[in-house]
Amino acid sequence: MRITEINIVDFDHKDFRSALGCFGTGVTVITTRDQDNRHYGVTVSSFNSVSLDPPLILWSQGREAPSHKAFKENAHFVVNVLSANQTEVSNQFARPSDNKFEGLTCTFTENGVAILPEILGHFECVTENMFDGGDHIIFLAKVINYKHHPDTDPLFFWRGKYITP
Ligand SMILES: Cc1cc2nc3c(=O)[nH]c(=O)nc-3n(C[C@H](O)[C@H](O)[C@H](O)COP(=O)(O)O)c2cc1C
Repeated sequence: MRITEINIVDFDHKDFRSALGCFGTGVTVITTRDQDNRHYGVTVSSFNSVSLDPPLILWSQGREAPSHKAFKENAHFVVNVLSANQTEVSNQFARPSDNKFEGLTCTFTENGVAILPEILGHFECVTENMFDGGDHIIFLAKVINYKHHPDTDPLFFWRGKYITP
């Protein structure tokens, strides 16, 4: 469909979402905490690399997400890259809950942000800029620390389904 042919009234959001879903991604859970040390985590597939020097990444979050305020107010967050056996962890962080971290023994960065267990790798980040992205906000962030496990298989998401190698 050519975008110029779309009548804004008839625009089919469900179909557009399906079309975007043909681009497969990895799956991450992005974590932060607030001033009262309450922990937040959201399943995110919009994570992507931006720059090697300086080391920059981006991700985007829906403006209406319950955890959005925490990510706007605390520049420190961690991108946890999920491994192939973590579909349940992905589902756990993809719906609102009072205790998203239930059953997970986390470690913490110097800034007190949670790092999930059994992940493929993580990037500890500091937000440098936030940009308007329609119904989302785009976070551009500097990576200040990272770790990865080269021998672990990743979890993928494609056309609304989890794919494991
Ligand atoms: C595979 C997958 C990828 C997702 N990617 C994003 C994303 O990139 N940005 C976003 O805002 N929500 C994304 N979501 C939806 C959030 O995980 C979901 O809205 C979550 O409940 C937000 O957490 P909160 O309710 O604690 O704010 C994704 C969900 C799934 C299952």
